[in-house]
Amino acid sequence: MCGIVAYVGEQQAREILVDGLKRLEYRGYDSSGVAILGTPPYLAKAVGKVAALEQRVSQENPLGSVGIAHTRWATHGKPTEANAHPHLDCSGQVYLVHNGIIENYQALKNRLIGGGHKFTSETDTEVLAHLVEEAYSGSLESAVQKALLQVQGTFGIAVMHAAHRHQIVVARRGSPIVLGVGSNESLAASDVSALARHTDQVVFLEDNEVARLEPGTFSITTLENKAISREATTLEIGPEAMELGGFPHYMLKEIFEQPEAVENAFRGRLNHSEGVAKLGGLESVGDRLRAARHLIIVSCGTSYYAGLFARYVFETLTDLAVETELASEFRYRKLNLRQNTVVLAISQSGETADTLAALREAKRKGALVLGLVNVVGSSIARETHAGVYCHAGIEVGVASTKSFTTQLAILTLMALLMGRSRDLSYEEGMSVIHGLEKVPGDLRRILEQSERIRKLAEKYCEARHFLYIGRKYQYPIALEGALKLKEIAYIHAEGYAAGEMKHGPIALIDNSFPTVALAPEDGSYEKVASNIQEIRAREGRIIAVTSEGNSRLGQLVDDVIEIPHNHEILTPLLAVVPLQLFAYHCAVLRGCDVDKPRNLAKSVTVE
Ligand code: AGP
Repeated sequence: MCGIVAYVGEQQAREILVDGLKRLEYRGYDSSGVAILGTPPYLAKAVGKVAALEQRVSQENPLGSVGIAHTRWATHGKPTEANAHPHLDCSGQVYLVHNGIIENYQALKNRLIGGGHKFTSETDTEVLAHLVEEAYSGSLESAVQKALLQVQGTFGIAVMHAAHRHQIVVARRGSPIVLGVGSNESLAASDVSALARHTDQVVFLEDNEVARLEPGTFSITTLENKAISREATTLEIGPEAMELGGFPHYMLKEIFEQPEAVENAFRGRLNHSEGVAKLGGLESVGDRLRAARHLIIVSCGTSYYAGLFARYVFETLTDLAVETELASEFRYRKLNLRQNTVVLAISQSGETADTLAALREAKRKGALVLGLVNVVGSSIARETHAGVYCHAGIEVGVASTKSFTTQLAILTLMALLMGRSRDLSYEEGMSVIHGLEKVPGDLRRILEQSERIRKLAEKYCEARHFLYIGRKYQYPIALEGALKLKEIAYIHAEGYAAGEMKHGPIALIDNSFPTVALAPEDGSYEKVASNIQEIRAREGRIIAVTSEGNSRLGQLVDDVIEIPHNHEILTPLLAVVPLQLFAYHCAVLRGCDVDKPRNLAKSVTVE
């Protein structure tokens, strides 16, 4: 949600900081700010797009080679300049930016006010600047440690002090901070995407750690000042991952990256001689996986729909009892978690607060907790007992696309792995493997239809409501298709299990309320075809996603999008792509901000 960039080195900080903020824009924000320790120190804030801040900074051209910057997504206090970060202490010496929530801020604020401190914002963050001021006696690092020991809640922070012109101190608990180390310069950010242009040498800070950055060097301690030794690791994404590469939007680029992303997801993970998947990240818990009886999947949004898909796949390929639960609801249930329960957290960002809270709860209760995550080194990746990465590559568009299809591919591999250690035969295993290997080529053929789907979007994008229906494997895809349309095109869309339609939503159908029907020729085809008949009888317009060469829908539907034939389990990976394209083209035609839809954030770090 909020984003942090910090720089200390020999270059002018202003471009590096503003460029970093622009690369974090995709995380979602409503205001931004920057501070640079020049002579005199510089502070600028703006409400709205980073472009507004950029314009001001380029006009005012501040000098200085140490600075911090922030994009804010309001929690405590409206998006105003006063509430935008950086926040200062009373003396104007301490500059601080913060991601996360300080839960005991009101008590701390009352105490600080009682001690004479003056506050200028409504934020929880500002207490941190005053706490650092109060604790400061010559060492910024030590003041930050002392301040943070009084804090309850989550934080990723970057702090500067006017008396330390070659130093930045950062710290984290529950909100990511990554250090970037270059020659004669050091950076820190809440997300590697802000660092990738400058260095490939990064260090992930752990919870309750503080780092002191100076040009080209860093040192890490705990909040209790215990020294920590950690080597930098080499970043696998190159700076080009953040470029548009000729596409008008990141979302479209990422939709088109799916054949390669899915291939990367299963590359090196298929064992043909045994008809099984090879997932190195799960080897350490192999015995517990073989003994598992019960699987609970927790996730949010699109990742939740991947979990719903997984329920069908695990039930088909294994003998596990499977439940899929919204991470935000998990804690309200009284679940019997036992030694043989596995909890699987699915998350693109690996930072979703609800999913993190759910996995912590599951760990507390003794379950084996696994992660399926895209962002390497993220909190969920670090807090689970074992897990698998999606290898989708960085996803910038707020709407998940390639992370979803890679999640589906890997969930299939996980089910295959667990199925083959149970009663799944070699032949059944191999048929899944062959299907998966065919998916990238199938996806390429679907992507060739983008222009046709754009024309369909032209025909339908004025509709104010849509219904998306599907059964079994296609039910989660109906939900995902509807979510895509809602979040980027701002069109109301309901995703429904096709069989549920006649229990309510059919009352809405008329010729102004189109339906997208997922009707590949699988085991549920005949029943979905009947549901299509029912909609047709009520003059509903229908776009059907069906298998190549299926002419049976004939006059029943208005428009058809064809997808290649594949294993029934894998058809959802194909069927979702036309729905992503449809939502994308509708959003563009309606003039929406595709990559940064209103009110949304890429990484939802508040519960
Ligand atoms: C997807 O298009 C959404 N933007 C959103 O629902 C997202 O999937 C959800 O917030 C979960 O995020 P995660 O996968 O990073 O945990």
